[in-house]
Amino acid sequence: MTSPFYITTPIYYVNAKPHIGHTYTTVSADVARRFQAMTGRDTFFLTGTDEHGDKIVKAAEKENITPRAYADRISRLFSDLWPEFNITNDYFVRTTDPAHIAVVQKILQQIYDAGDIYFSEYEGLYCFGCERFYTERELVDGKCPDHETPPESIRESNYFFKMSRYQQWLTDHITAHPEFIQPERYRNEVLAFLREPLEDLCISRPKSRLEWGITLPFDENYVTYVWFDALINYISALGFPDGEKFKKFWPHARHVVAKDILKPHGIYWPIMLKAAGIDMFKSLYVHGYWNIDESKMSKSLGNVVDPLELKSAYGTDAVRFFLMREMVFGLDAGFSEATLVERINTDLANDLGNLFSRVLAMFHKYFKGIVPEIDPAVRTGTAADLFDDTRQTIQEYTEEMAAFRFHKAISAVWNLISRMNKYVVTTAPWELAKDKGREDRLKAVMVNLLEGLRVISGLILPVMPETAQIMQKHLGIGKNTPLSTLDQISQWGTFAPGTALPGPVTLFPRIDTKKSNTGKSNTKKSNNGKAKNPSKSQNAPMPQNASETPEPPVLPALKPEITFEDVLKLDLRAATVVHAETIPKAKKLLRLTVDLGMEQRTVVAGIAKSYTPEDIIGKQIIVVANLKPAVLMGVESQGMLLAAVTDAGCATAALDREMAPGTPVK
Ligand code: ME8
Ligand code: MG
Repeated sequence: MTSPFYITTPIYYVNAKPHIGHTYTTVSADVARRFQAMTGRDTFFLTGTDEHGDKIVKAAEKENITPRAYADRISRLFSDLWPEFNITNDYFVRTTDPAHIAVVQKILQQIYDAGDIYFSEYEGLYCFGCERFYTERELVDGKCPDHETPPESIRESNYFFKMSRYQQWLTDHITAHPEFIQPERYRNEVLAFLREPLEDLCISRPKSRLEWGITLPFDENYVTYVWFDALINYISALGFPDGEKFKKFWPHARHVVAKDILKPHGIYWPIMLKAAGIDMFKSLYVHGYWNIDESKMSKSLGNVVDPLELKSAYGTDAVRFFLMREMVFGLDAGFSEATLVERINTDLANDLGNLFSRVLAMFHKYFKGIVPEIDPAVRTGTAADLFDDTRQTIQEYTEEMAAFRFHKAISAVWNLISRMNKYVVTTAPWELAKDKGREDRLKAVMVNLLEGLRVISGLILPVMPETAQIMQKHLGIGKNTPLSTLDQISQWGTFAPGTALPGPVTLFPRIDTKKSNTGKSNTKKSNNGKAKNPSKSQNAPMPQNASETPEPPVLPALKPEITFEDVLKLDLRAATVVHAETIPKAKKLLRLTVDLGMEQRTVVAGIAKSYTPEDIIGKQIIVVANLKPAVLMGVESQGMLLAAVTDAGCATAALDREMAPGTPVK
């Protein structure tokens, strides 16, 4: 039996909204957890928000609301964001949860009773941004290295945690357990830090200065230092000390953090656990920073990229893929929309998307989408290379994924994609198709390609769950042949003769690099989701001979499944166009006045390529009536009409007999 797997992200401060840095950490944890679940392990995934402390009070003051109201609002931004990125956390912890507060007080009391907490006066350099004291040697040019502001000198009486007592123990533990802090550079950093005498940690803040915190169980004039409070989330969320989840998962804990919080996780946390007599976590995985123009992306510097904006411009899977592929886990990476677009065009549209749609297009052309019966003898001869390639890829991928080297695991899969492209070239199915005598070979080659694509769909699942699902749907993989474990993915020879596969699909449309989707730099999706044949892209990796392999039209990928409730949210109405006019400087748009029965509305529609104002006046159309108004080319549009759209033009959707304006369309 494989051991359980527990993974956590930092709990993020609720003093500003989430950005791509937080998204990276949370996606990494999600990828690791989805991968581990595929290996058959029982997994638990925790994220959440860190809500006490001075930072939050200051942020709330600025908005003139209570810290509680402020924390509720920002925490919600995080918990609502994660589903948008298909993050599958099992629990979302908040440090204002009563259950968490109780555990923090319990542990404080335990350590206090054991004699590891003492009261004393202290004067030191304090960074309010980090909410901690700094020693002179930790400062860079006299400033906090994270916030780039000088710390303030403060003097007060406080409670201190005797960390120095555990310094030798921690050094020994890290030395004896190479997996405790990874990658190695961060382990070395902590060991180097431990070569200097460790100062005791100030774990209280007087209520006269800060009230928004957890009251110390042994002195009600003080609240708990926010880090001492926050770190405990990792066990309070599992129901420490008696919860089943705590017993099952805690000894298998992996924490994922960026290097900004290496010290609290590599030093304070193990010592807190040790002092409280709790088992150690298994490993701490530390990654680098996403930088913008060489500076760390951070709320204090204000140079943040909004994950939701990226999602709406490029889609969840493309963003997840980019984050995981572009950053070497452990090192810094530069963020730019141009690099993101390049990765989408090269790795996704070209390499993966093109291989997938071309193989399926050939398959539909030669076999009308029905899996043929293959001669086992021929098969053995044609499968060898591809089969060996997939074995090697799965092995490499498994090792890299297990070690959190996501970029390497992904490149292993992309090597397989490129070897499959070569397989297409060397086997040349279009040549085989010309010759009746080689039909058996054609069948075997094409089914081998399906097997390879099936393996790929399984391997990309942790990173791109939506794409994996679309691929599997188009490979005819149904509920009876699930691909949820690595064992299932590794099988070969799974396509049953006679199975009908749905038509080909464009997984990732190419993006026009001249304008940006988010409007921030120079890149843009060329087709705005309209059908486009990806094999026409300039860098198509496979030889193409249009006369030999004309392909069926390739349609955009289906969007992820929605529920009946989702459909009910749309308020569609029959509407009559009573007036229409062109909009100056907007060649594609018409400004329509539509009669919705109860009222007239202005709707701006991108139909000018196919309709003149005269064409459309008097027509009955279907309008999304509850769409939030948006301003297009200076005109407020109060709805949207339905139409079938291609690159060449569009056709508006209509009812086949006239209905009273305003009639609901269901
Ligand atoms: O430190 N690049 O919260 P926080 C990569 N509440 N990752 C980044 C990043 C960047 N530019 N910016 C932020 C706290 N992150 C504490 C944690 S845990 C018990 C308490 C990610 O909101 C990265 O994971 O400042 C980093 O460690 C974390 O956000 C810091 O989040
Ligand atoms: Mg921070």
